Amino acid sequence: MKFIVKENYEEVCKEAFKIMKEVVDKGNSTLGLATGSTPIGLYNLLVEDHKTNHTSYKNIKTFNLDEYVGIAKSHYESYDSFMKRNLFSHIDINMDNVNLPRGYAEDLEQECKRYNELLENNTVDIQLLGIGANGHIGFNEPGTPFDSVTYITNLTEKTIKDNSRFFDSISEVPTKAITMGIKNILQAKKILLLATGKNKAEAIKRLHDNVITEDLPASALHMHKDVIVIVDKDAYSLV
Ligand code: F6R
Repeated sequence: MKFIVKENYEEVCKEAFKIMKEVVDKGNSTLGLATGSTPIGLYNLLVEDHKTNHTSYKNIKTFNLDEYVGIAKSHYESYDSFMKRNLFSHIDINMDNVNLPRGYAEDLEQECKRYNELLENNTVDIQLLGIGANGHIGFNEPGTPFDSVTYITNLTEKTIKDNSRFFDSISEVPTKAITMGIKNILQAKKILLLATGKNKAEAIKRLHDNVITEDLPASALHMHKDVIVIVDKDAYSLV
């Protein structure tokens, strides 16, 4: 696991952009994507690059990490809406090549199976990750077995509280999500984790400590041979 420390959020995004761009430039790559606040700056840079340099996404496939259960696909805070708003609507991607778990599916077990099969049949070239203040990756909360594959997860109180900033009230925050499992995430060829801000400092310190434990889901990444963690000074402040 390689740590790169940058001055601030903007510099973290620029560094991440360089790494993502190399993969996108191959033309027919498969990207694993994340939502949340952290990747927005990177998505803005990808959009800007598409507009300026005509970088094409026509043959790019994508798989998102997760989606809330219990809100409509069209809900402003669904990850489907988030991805369209922040990336897909601004690039030339073929929406048939875009994949997210369908948290609104009637049969959620079947949906987990469908998504998992897709992941088994496609190799993700680069998986983008954020990290929860509690060390979650995707919505794999502390205690999740490292051999987990796509499943329905109960969000912890901490995650619900952290995500309530996107909703009008905490009671509106979904309590469940469909997420790629840790095993799915580890199958990507390359993993790029971004973390900024003081509220991630504890999780980054624990990740840096190199102790592999299910209490810190992100620590599973130590078992992967190509992981780059890009952080700003605040997120690195306890290391
Ligand atoms: C998002 C996801 C989550 C976030 C994490 C950090 O698809 O799977 O693991 O990456 O909660 O979120 P932010 O970036 O909002 O701090």
